[in-house]
Amino acid sequence: MGQAFLPLLKKAAQESLGSGLSCSKAAIVNISSIGGSIASIFGWEMMQITSYRCSKPSFPFHHHPVPVSPQAALNMLSKCQSLAYKEHGILCVALHPGWVQTDLGATARHTPPVTVDDSVQGMLKVLSSLSEKETSAFLDWEGKRRTSSMTELCVRSVLVTGANRGLGLGFVQHFLRMPKPPQWIFAGCRDPTGQRAQELKNLASKHPNIIIIPLEVADPSSIKAAAAKVGEHLGGSGLNLLINNAGIARPKSLDNETLESMSEVYTTNTIGPLLMGQAFLPLLKKAAQGSPGSELSCSKAAVINMSSYAGSIEDMYVWEFGQVVSYRCSKAALNMLSKCQSLAYKEHGILCVALHPGWVQTDMGGTGSFKPPLTVDDSVQGMLKVLSSISEKETGAFLDWEGKVIPW
Ligand SMILES: NC(=O)c1ccc[n+]([C@@H]2O[C@H](COP(=O)([O-])OP(=O)(O)OC[C@H]3O[C@@H](n4cnc5c(N)ncnc54)[C@H](OP(=O)(O)O)[C@@H]3O)[C@@H](O)[C@H]2O)c1
Repeated sequence: MGQAFLPLLKKAAQESLGSGLSCSKAAIVNISSIGGSIASIFGWEMMQITSYRCSKPSFPFHHHPVPVSPQAALNMLSKCQSLAYKEHGILCVALHPGWVQTDLGATARHTPPVTVDDSVQGMLKVLSSLSEKETSAFLDWEGKRRTSSMTELCVRSVLVTGANRGLGLGFVQHFLRMPKPPQWIFAGCRDPTGQRAQELKNLASKHPNIIIIPLEVADPSSIKAAAAKVGEHLGGSGLNLLINNAGIARPKSLDNETLESMSEVYTTNTIGPLLMGQAFLPLLKKAAQGSPGSELSCSKAAVINMSSYAGSIEDMYVWEFGQVVSYRCSKAALNMLSKCQSLAYKEHGILCVALHPGWVQTDMGGTGSFKPPLTVDDSVQGMLKVLSSISEKETGAFLDWEGKVIPW
């Protein structure tokens, strides 16, 4: 196709103004697949589909054999085209469309997370932004590079507390959209029958890997029951990732703080994550033991405590905007807890960090007169990238959604 259409593409490039490359000028877009990434050899354990990855025209996991492009080879071809056609003003990229709800994407056990609409819309957005520096790249439908040997976050099981709205729900949505979604996404929710759980319930009705777990993190018996339930679902296997996300804030100043508000916020934001860590430790240990290698990672076993920059004693972030004393104290204490957990759980192979999600457009983030700068999507995407890259040297750290270290 490239050879045959080269004269027409060249003509389009010549007729177009400017010397920079762009898809509006002349471009070849090869729809590839992350299955063709030699660096990550993505999803190998789930299905080998060697011919799809390499070269032969058969496709064993689908009912009818379909002629498919050799994806690793297609990536190489895209690279060759980009080098050869650059002088003619033609941009060339390989694009991974995501795991999409089409005949090719469907398997007996899983509904692909990305609709045709979302995938195509994403890809068109990517195409509209490409220029010279991206020619020869292997990108996905969200514009992320796929050529590097970047380690993917790859967990079989995750539990997110406070998963019915805000950042918690965002985590669930992003886990679903991963190229290889977890087999179990345990969504902790303190009132699964309530109005505020509706969006989560709608999502769970479409995705059988979401399991809603009734979970009130301020109640030790609810935590114990949740741990037992999660253990039952997991059969003999462990829990890779515990995200202590549930949290509350009370808009109080030093003058009007009360015993009730201090206790309530501390119980939810600090004692909750402590008890969660204790109750889920056996399952986290099991995940660590079942995972090869000795290096700590979030794909193996990890506790992520959703903290806040507001808990930084050194920085006293946005003090002028809100004193929120109980919230600040609870997060400073949560940071200390994260450090304690990291020291105690390291010998079990469990990584622990405190994470600041940024100032995010959620019910909690958006209560003041300013619109927070970050969307839930941006924040969660950033945090997942951080989680995919941290290892032993970061355990016990206090990081933000971009991976920057925050002063204690
Ligand atoms: N948004 C920001 O800008 C920002 C900044 C820094 C840190 N954070 C931290 O990020 C985390 C998530 O915040 P968010 O902005 O997503 O907040 P949000 O929109 O207010 O959502 C909070 C979630 O926590 C749940 N929750 C609260 N108390 C709970 C309890 N006792 N047991 C179980 N679930 C409980 C809520 O459930 P219900 O629906 O039942 O109330 C809800 O699902 C929090 O830890 C927060 O401190 C947020």
